[in-house]
Amino acid sequence: MAMRIDGKAISAQIREELKAECAAFVAETGVLPGLAVIIVGEDPASQVYVRNKKKGCEEVGFFSDGYELPADTTQEELNALVDRLNADERIHGILVQLPLPKHLNETEVLLRIDPSKDVDAFHPYNVGKIMIGDYSFLPCTPAGVMALLERSGIEIAGKKCVVIGRSNIVGKPMSMLLLHANGTVTVCHSKTRDLAAVTREADILVVAIGRADFVTADMVKPGAVVIDVGMNRRADGKLTGDVDFASVEPVASAITPVPGGVGPMTITMLLKNTLTAAKLASLKK
Ligand code: GUN
Repeated sequence: MAMRIDGKAISAQIREELKAECAAFVAETGVLPGLAVIIVGEDPASQVYVRNKKKGCEEVGFFSDGYELPADTTQEELNALVDRLNADERIHGILVQLPLPKHLNETEVLLRIDPSKDVDAFHPYNVGKIMIGDYSFLPCTPAGVMALLERSGIEIAGKKCVVIGRSNIVGKPMSMLLLHANGTVTVCHSKTRDLAAVTREADILVVAIGRADFVTADMVKPGAVVIDVGMNRRADGKLTGDVDFASVEPVASAITPVPGGVGPMTITMLLKNTLTAAKLASLKK
């Protein structure tokens, strides 16, 4: 039976470390790290994320500023808010919750965020820095996966790592972080031929496609480490990942559950980025 990688416990441990690090930074500089979170419209899943982000800030001692804008907010209004937050010295990190309503241009908004406050690491400047291995900000979800692997004592160097999914938020940056950790990385996607043959080669399999229970035991090499980034809602309302946990757990050597695996780590990494942003800003003064 696989070891269950406990994202809740690892996340709580890192938040304790961040809390202590934040207290030391505040004592030294008198500056409170500040995160602004913008949400447009009433998507219930986004509202839950945003609430958890605010709660996370309070837990580690940051200042948090939330903006819940109506669904008919114009591009100009959203741009103006980003401009205002870019200029606000109390704010070190700006997060615009995605997806935005269809009439708004996401790329335009993400480009507008000052790269030094881009705690999601979505701005092309920060994406480029990740590509060359020069990190100011860690892409939150992939960084959460790396922290889970590290703190569970799982070696990456020399391992065959397979990532299913090539999104800008998870799949692509995930493959870069594994590569920088000296993994041999393959990225699979909807056009990959004989996917199961590729995934069965994986020592470490990371799944981020958003399809409930997609990865089954026959796709997993015995003893592989399986990381499930998926967060899907079944017809019965239950949360489930991209991995069929019941069938894969007996085959894997370690596995993340959903919920309680990767999910709690993402916000923790966002908090880490916010503290980094506050520290970098104080160095500039
Ligand atoms: N929507 C889903 N995940 C994320 C995330 O990590 N950051 C932002 N800004 N929006 C998201």
